Amino acid sequence: MTLHRVARFADVPEDRGLEVSLQGSKILLLKVGDQLRAYQGECPHAGAPLAEGALCHGRLTCPWHKAQFRIEDGGLCEPPALDSLKRYPLEVRDDEVWVGDQPLSDAHTPPNDDERTFVIVGAGAAGTAAAAALREKGFGGRVLLIDRETGAGYDRTVLSKFVISGETPPDEIPSLRDEDFYREQRIERIQGEVTSLDAATQSLRLADGQSLIYDAALLATGGVPNSLKLPGADLPQVFVLRSKAHAQQILDSAKPGQRAVIIGDSFIAMESASALRQHGLDITVLARHPVPFAKQFGDSVGKAILALHEANGVMFHANGEVERIEGSTHVEAVCLDNGQRFPADLVLVGIGVSPATGPFDGLPQEKDHSLRVDGGMRVTDGLWAAGDIATFPLNGQPQRIEHWRLAQQQARIAAANMLGGDEHYLDVPYFWTWHFGKNYDYLGHAEAWDEVEFKGDPSQPPFIGLFGKNGVVTAAVACEEERTMAMLAERMKQPLPMDEAWRLIRG
Ligand SMILES: Cc1cc2nc3c(=O)[nH]c(=O)nc-3n(C[C@H](O)[C@H](O)[C@H](O)COP(=O)(O)OP(=O)(O)OC[C@H]3O[C@@H](n4cnc5c(N)ncnc54)[C@H](O)[C@@H]3O)c2cc1C
Ligand code: FES
Repeated sequence: MTLHRVARFADVPEDRGLEVSLQGSKILLLKVGDQLRAYQGECPHAGAPLAEGALCHGRLTCPWHKAQFRIEDGGLCEPPALDSLKRYPLEVRDDEVWVGDQPLSDAHTPPNDDERTFVIVGAGAAGTAAAAALREKGFGGRVLLIDRETGAGYDRTVLSKFVISGETPPDEIPSLRDEDFYREQRIERIQGEVTSLDAATQSLRLADGQSLIYDAALLATGGVPNSLKLPGADLPQVFVLRSKAHAQQILDSAKPGQRAVIIGDSFIAMESASALRQHGLDITVLARHPVPFAKQFGDSVGKAILALHEANGVMFHANGEVERIEGSTHVEAVCLDNGQRFPADLVLVGIGVSPATGPFDGLPQEKDHSLRVDGGMRVTDGLWAAGDIATFPLNGQPQRIEHWRLAQQQARIAAANMLGGDEHYLDVPYFWTWHFGKNYDYLGHAEAWDEVEFKGDPSQPPFIGLFGKNGVVTAAVACEEERTMAMLAERMKQPLPMDEAWRLIRG
């Protein structure tokens, strides 16, 4: 290992990282008190430039999807990254900063010193994060990770953004963990469908008849897309989008120049409208709301996103309910109850998901069939749940929230508690959505607000909007304001008065 001179000490700012290049690799220099640290320069999640992140409360927040790392040692604090930052040897000689070209060795696998078996059902966002967290937190026993999908454990969020647009082929969708990781960490993967669970005997059964006994189990089975119950809904060109296989079916059918009708104005529906339009299809969205996302983002951001879709040629109709899909062997048109008819070659239904808890009907379920968990994600003795199937207490209210990062945060909390910890969710929910090359970030979970204020114009990013209730920020929405949103991701963990937030933003 050789040390290389990469910067002067004085070049490293106090309030952010400095990116330097070392033999073609990007390295991040950070000030920690009067010392310096050198870490990998790109986020281990999806490669964001970490020098553009925010430093706050001893943490570095990634500008893209808000993973957090301890400044002191690069340790992972919050997903969607699943790894800590690689640290490089660093020396300061006079005013010069010298960094080694090889990272210090890091992760180890805990020794096989525990007789317990932990089972995780579902290897999606939450399940994969939980498996990684169990080892990270030192669990040495058996970890069984069960999923019915072949090749489970991939980034589902790209399906509606880059896969059905034709940019990322389904077989190039990033895996959350590679094969070496599962082997080195002794995580046993089972492909199979869990069909029932008995919490009293701590056992579960798979479709092939196998039954397993667990000492602790995490249920993370996600959601099942809601289907339409109306004539023609079973035609072969009527699709939903949740899995890689669904995306492949859509890609096999969708050809540039064809007409796609998208039913619904959910995030997945609107992202799919953007992606299929970019794939060269004519798109009509049949919506229930005159302005998409107004409930979450407010009217002006919803209208701006609608205008972006329309400027890119998406037709948006919000009058009338879908009554039937016409066609005998092929989809021909979608018809509304007001007599309107929209010719179509394919239909994508994006009307929300239901918790995939069918196999767990022996457990008490909420009205929406989710599982109620306590603040530590515990369902009952020996049993935890996380992600889209979990109704959990957020600021004292039961909530079920379908966000990627939140599912992984809940999974990390569940993993800690499966090992005897007492962790609770104390963070701010975060998600992102992508339309025609623009990424919109959302922090918080505001169902009502009495104040909304913007810096910038939502129809001409960059902009940031704050929603407030009783003078405190309850949510923030933004486009092209990544560092500010990264800073707010940390600051909003404590009640943040609106005027203080604006002082920080205007800075
Ligand atoms: C197309 C798409 C785009 C999205 N984009 C975003 C985004 O941009 N930002 C964001 O924050 N969120 C996004 N989401 C939402 C996000 O993906 C979910 O909230 C998240 O995946 C929930 O994680 P989970 O672990 O609960 O479920 P999942 O990730 O769905 O994982 C559940 C796993 O359980 C398996 N499973 C289910 N039942 C069984 C069973 N009986 N036996 C065995 N295995 C089973 C499934 O095969 C699946 O692999 C998107 C979702 C979709 C579908
Ligand atoms: S790239 Fe850093 S969290 Fe996604």
